[in-house]
Amino acid sequence: MELRTIRDLAPRGKKVLLRADLNVPLSAGRVADDGRIRAVVPTLRWLAERGARVAVLSHLGRPDGKVVEGLRMAPVAARLGELLGFEVRALRNCVGPDVEGEVGGLPPGGLVVLENVRFHPEEEKNDPDFARALASPFEAFVNEAFATAHRAHASTVGVARSLPAYAGFLMEREVEVLSSVRDDPRRPYYVLVGGKKAKDKLGVLTDLLDRVDGFLIGGGVAFTFLAAQGHGVGKSVVDPALVETIRDLIRRAEERGTPLHLPQDVVVARELALGAETRVVPADAIPEGWMGLDIGPATVQQFAEVVAGAGTVVWTGPLGAFEHPPFEAGTRGVAEALVASPAFTVVGGGETGEAVEKLGLADRFGYVSTGGGATLDLLRGRSMPALEPLRVS
Ligand code: 3PG
Repeated sequence: MELRTIRDLAPRGKKVLLRADLNVPLSAGRVADDGRIRAVVPTLRWLAERGARVAVLSHLGRPDGKVVEGLRMAPVAARLGELLGFEVRALRNCVGPDVEGEVGGLPPGGLVVLENVRFHPEEEKNDPDFARALASPFEAFVNEAFATAHRAHASTVGVARSLPAYAGFLMEREVEVLSSVRDDPRRPYYVLVGGKKAKDKLGVLTDLLDRVDGFLIGGGVAFTFLAAQGHGVGKSVVDPALVETIRDLIRRAEERGTPLHLPQDVVVARELALGAETRVVPADAIPEGWMGLDIGPATVQQFAEVVAGAGTVVWTGPLGAFEHPPFEAGTRGVAEALVASPAFTVVGGGETGEAVEKLGLADRFGYVSTGGGATLDLLRGRSMPALEPLRVS
């Protein structure tokens, strides 16, 4: 897919609305992981150096169309300012006369951050009047929000009806790398899935079945698979509503000859707590009253052997309760195996990106995507509405 990019925009003096995905985790009012902010800095610098006047627009969390004080953009603007080396102001709205005035008063190379666009209920409805109001102070629209490209919202799709639209460098790179994995992966192509949301992950696995050469399944989602195979899983978190669909997926994978690797062993505890007693047990023998919280060492070894022979591995979702130290070994072990493998390795999903960042391994992966749902939607061949207005026609 060829996109119109900011190289096609003559930026000098132009008032540019730049949609980014700065939906980052906050902790005690500060940015806890700035990966998505750092990812848009090259485009912002490029535009500033060429004299554009830029207003950065994003959503933060899911405030459901209301002002939520804890989801204002101010901490994000502060972190962006630190990265750019000058103070960045956060406005208290994203539409209206104040925005019009502030943007009109920006000097060439100047930049402001607009307020959380999801404070307005019209955003997620892709309301055309709201989209026109967002666009009205500007002369060009730059979309850098790859992580929101699977959503048809006013700030991702609607604004492009009123303004000439261009992809930023991050958007361009995400689409280029992930489309080439989707269309022509180096084989064998494996998808490694962890994380907690079994329902979301199951849809992804189902859609990817015809595209991949095998799956590796760990993390919370694995316990619903183990339950679907008829194993007792103790107190592990399972989603009983998915069991039938999982059995169907396992059947289809068998018919197709697509291996679906599940954990052989797991780390269990009676509770998810610091200092809790842990044991490694076979995955089909989790004792009553215990819950699975990580993949075990034999599974790390098993997964490491598979990825050593892979051509491409896409990884989404930590393989255990990674944020709690006794349960991070599985994620660490498999991450180390991935960076040592000759495969082209792609990390997708905010949480997985955070995990590899914390492990200090992020720059040893082939590609770390800023997208979560968007990355998976692109790879499974779903339509990406926010890319449509950026296509070279
Ligand atoms: C994400 O974090 O995946 C994106 O920012 C999209 O967020 P959403 O799922 O709330 O639309």
